[in-house]
Amino acid sequence: MKSIIFFNHFFFTQMHKNEIKKQISTLRKDLEMHNYNYYVLSTPKISDFEYDMKLKELEKLEKENPDFFEINSPTQRVGTDSNEEFNQITHKYSMLSLGNTYNQQELLDFDSRVKKLLDDKYEYVCELKYDGVAIGLSYENGKLKHAVTRGDGVKGDDVTQNVKTIKSIPLNLQGSDYPSFFEIRGEIFMPHKVFDELNKQRETPFANPRNAASGTIKMQNSSQVAKRKLDCYLYYLLGEKLPSNYHYENLIKAKDWGFKIPTHIKKAESINQVFDYINYWNNERHNLPFDIDGIVIKVNLIEQQDILGFTSKSPRWAISYKFKAEQVATDLLSVDYQIGRTGAVTPVANLKPVLLAGTTVKRASLHNSDIIKALDIRLGDMVFVEKGGEIIPKIVGVDKEKRKNDILSLEYITNCPECSEKLIRKDGESIHYCPNHDNCPPQIKGKIEHMFSRKAMNIGGGEATVNLLFNAGFVKNIADIYELNKEQIISLEGFKEKSTNNLLRSIDESKKIEYNKVLYSLGIRYVGATIAKILCKNFKSIDGLMNASFEELIEVDEIGNKIAESIIYYFQKPNNIEIINRLKKHGLQLKDKDSSSSNVSSNKLEGLSIVISGKFHKYSRDQIKEIIEKNGAKNSSSISKKTSYLVAGEKIGPSKLQKAKKLNIKIINELDFINLISEGL
Ligand code: IVH
Repeated sequence: MKSIIFFNHFFFTQMHKNEIKKQISTLRKDLEMHNYNYYVLSTPKISDFEYDMKLKELEKLEKENPDFFEINSPTQRVGTDSNEEFNQITHKYSMLSLGNTYNQQELLDFDSRVKKLLDDKYEYVCELKYDGVAIGLSYENGKLKHAVTRGDGVKGDDVTQNVKTIKSIPLNLQGSDYPSFFEIRGEIFMPHKVFDELNKQRETPFANPRNAASGTIKMQNSSQVAKRKLDCYLYYLLGEKLPSNYHYENLIKAKDWGFKIPTHIKKAESINQVFDYINYWNNERHNLPFDIDGIVIKVNLIEQQDILGFTSKSPRWAISYKFKAEQVATDLLSVDYQIGRTGAVTPVANLKPVLLAGTTVKRASLHNSDIIKALDIRLGDMVFVEKGGEIIPKIVGVDKEKRKNDILSLEYITNCPECSEKLIRKDGESIHYCPNHDNCPPQIKGKIEHMFSRKAMNIGGGEATVNLLFNAGFVKNIADIYELNKEQIISLEGFKEKSTNNLLRSIDESKKIEYNKVLYSLGIRYVGATIAKILCKNFKSIDGLMNASFEELIEVDEIGNKIAESIIYYFQKPNNIEIINRLKKHGLQLKDKDSSSSNVSSNKLEGLSIVISGKFHKYSRDQIKEIIEKNGAKNSSSISKKTSYLVAGEKIGPSKLQKAKKLNIKIINELDFINLISEGL
């Protein structure tokens, strides 16, 4: 009997352990993906808060289960912002981060550690903690040599070209008393005014100025960067022959050389003076024209900095104090689940109205089901609402002491509140989706509203008109718009002769709207206005796009796996093909105006099988394919013994080239191909 109990106990412990192992591994994978989205792609998919929650959960599990320790776990790294598109440069001095403190006690502990390690008196320098992107600038003989991002702390991206567009960064130094080689580090940021202007023009606004700055500094086109008007404060000088033995004096000197150094910098003789500085800026920060997320305290004397040294992650001579985001407590009244035009479910909390950072908040984001579960939020709870750097306020916690005993957990919905379809959730994603794209009312209305919008088909009439049309049963998809008649429209509430004619005219005029906007109007997930333009440049007609393979799609610059998958998914659905055929029938522009590559047709290439791959310049891939067909050859997507030619464009994948070489297939470039047509074989 005993042994059975033991066996059972062993068995269940083992099972429990396996569960935890799985949980840890899922969290690690998840965090790695979000890290990549944030640092490499500069397009975070979850808020900093959600990220921190996941990281904390992982930290806790790893601490409780030390046997699952892993050197490469997301908890063990400083973060990376490396981007394959940029050259990597190794930092001469590794680029570390700062330790964080969140309250007075933690700061007092820091001060005690400093005191213990130093025999002599010491003083601090207090600075603002700019909320942007860290940058290291190296200067040789007074000239800017390289600008490198932090990357993984050892190597970062060479973003010199982009950084040169920042007006406050000197390209050539003033005076002559600077060291022949030195590095200066600082923070690139986007001032509020620039951020607000930029977001007004963007279809997908940046959540905060920090994301905007990091997205901008990673852009491939530095002339675009120049338009974004970034700024930069420099706060840390490194090198062998620095002008002074004090950090503060070095910065003042750097100012003479032309650097923009922190203006609100202050020496503090004691930790109490540091607290004064913190208290002052805790309120005053709201009046700054840029974001700060805390303050930084540094030991001033460099010899003392050297004594204190570094841990593996951060200096022992400096620390940051992070401001708390403004927070209030209020009642959670109810939860709504909103369904977007792509089917994404967003849980939104309805709150008892409360004043927070100058505005009345009635609704707040509840993120997703994982967060609701982790926070254990229940209806009727007193919740904490926070307004951090992000635009939308969020719920960050529950006051459990105020909870009445009898309230039940908030069960996340399993079915769509609008159409009852069972919700789905893809592996690795935290968001639920309603997959009933063609019949779920808010998705249909959302798609039609999107089609009506100014950047799409610019049809007069917004949400209200779409609602009327939908409720009357006149439109169920975007093609129905083009089959509306006068009688139907005039029968709608509030519509008279003039408004009816206006709407009909507006619909008719939209038929002239150029192809890239029509493509955008289709509402394919991840195909925003910019991506639609890129697609149109590369696939000159909707038929070309429809027939493009996954490989062909991702060969296009800026089209990644996710966008390609979404396009393939869209065109796989017979319903969507039917809609496109109807749009074609109604005369919408579904190819580029000057897409006709050549009117020449011949049998010069008769019987040949041609594979094209890579990026082309004179013609688009679509046009080349059209030329191939018009001249009697067959387009083939994969290389085989039967392939006659491989037309290789720029950035062609190495595996295709290798295969062609192995099979002795003739490889020609775009120019050879054009010659082939004009001259014959
Ligand atoms: S000093 C070795 N000073 O905050 C220490 N950093 O969370 C070098 N930051 O990596 C950093 N304002 O990107 C320093 N006045 C300031 C700062 C500052 C913002 C950033 C910096 C750093 C991060 C740490």
